[in-house]
Amino acid sequence: MAIIFELLKEDSQTGARLGRLHTPHGSIDTPVFMPVGTLATVKTMSPEELNEIGARILLSNTYHLWLRPGEDIVEEAGGLHSFMNWNGAILTDSGGFQVFSLSDMREIQEEGVHFRNHLSGEKLFLSPEKSIQIQNSLGADIIMAFDECPPYPAEYDYMKQSVERTSRWAERCLKAHRRPEDQGLFGIIQGGEYEDLRQQSARDLVSLDFPGYAVGGLSVGEPKDVMNKVLEFTTPLLPKNKPRYLMGVGSPDSLIDGAIRGIDMFDCVLPTRIARNGTCMTSTGRLVVRNAKYARDFRPLDEHCDCYVCRNYSRAYIRHLIKANEIFGMRLTTYHNLYFLVKLMEQVREAIRENRLLDFREQFFEQYGFNKP
Ligand code: GUN
Ligand code: ZN
Repeated sequence: MAIIFELLKEDSQTGARLGRLHTPHGSIDTPVFMPVGTLATVKTMSPEELNEIGARILLSNTYHLWLRPGEDIVEEAGGLHSFMNWNGAILTDSGGFQVFSLSDMREIQEEGVHFRNHLSGEKLFLSPEKSIQIQNSLGADIIMAFDECPPYPAEYDYMKQSVERTSRWAERCLKAHRRPEDQGLFGIIQGGEYEDLRQQSARDLVSLDFPGYAVGGLSVGEPKDVMNKVLEFTTPLLPKNKPRYLMGVGSPDSLIDGAIRGIDMFDCVLPTRIARNGTCMTSTGRLVVRNAKYARDFRPLDEHCDCYVCRNYSRAYIRHLIKANEIFGMRLTTYHNLYFLVKLMEQVREAIRENRLLDFREQFFEQYGFNKP
């Protein structure tokens, strides 16, 4: 078994759980946020820095690494861990989502998806078997089933067809998987906002007995209360002793609200993407350090943060670097944002341990500014 999930505690007030995910590259305390390294690098961060801020698992993308440099090169390097010099755990997404979000001219068939390379325009084809073969070559600790992530909103009839195809694809992924002993393959629940389709999807995938389950098809433009409702009726359909991963979610409020509804793992490009244009996550809300009002502000990004950046650099300096398009500015904001989310999840785990997650939510939302009219 490549992946063993230890359920350490269930919150008495909410659906939240405290757990530990054991992988061939270390154990991870959950709930956890996974920084995104699409192209085998978390943009601007070295693996040593990621380790220093407390990151223990990263996400990378099958679709991107297949196009460049090609999974054969990664495999020849000894796999993704040695290729990128990261000794912690890695999860690769299947390409299911990227094909739908990045490429145009796609055509979905039972066999797989025909589409065009978003870089060169070249015609390509991705199927459950192909995705798993690429992920077997990349060698991540956790790999994902090849699914369809329909847009929001999608018609019920379309969604039903899509859920049924995603279930058939999930079964093909399991059959194609060549490294079950050292790579855990997770299934992905789809079904949009439709409760009966989420039930159908969960029933299909749970019967296939994956070592973990993702909730997909969220954070695709739906309102927050829709996401919360979907999680409320979906996580109880999943086995308690398996990890649950909410794909593509990384705003501080959604991490807390997801954990409350029983989610153990999250990933999102949000903290790293907004960092590069000068937006920082702080304990009092988002801070757009580019703004003129910070030109002479010599305080740290977040006065309550003890990260390397906040201990050594000012808003004024970081603003200057970002405005001048200096690489170091992006490094500093990225470092701080990832540290902020890693610390936030530590606080979430501590609150679950001490049976005060709802109080923590209330206090965090108040400070972060979500409760303001
Ligand atoms: N990333 C965010 N949402 C999804 C999803 O629904 N499927 C996959 N494969 N990746 C995602
Ligand atoms: Zn900081």
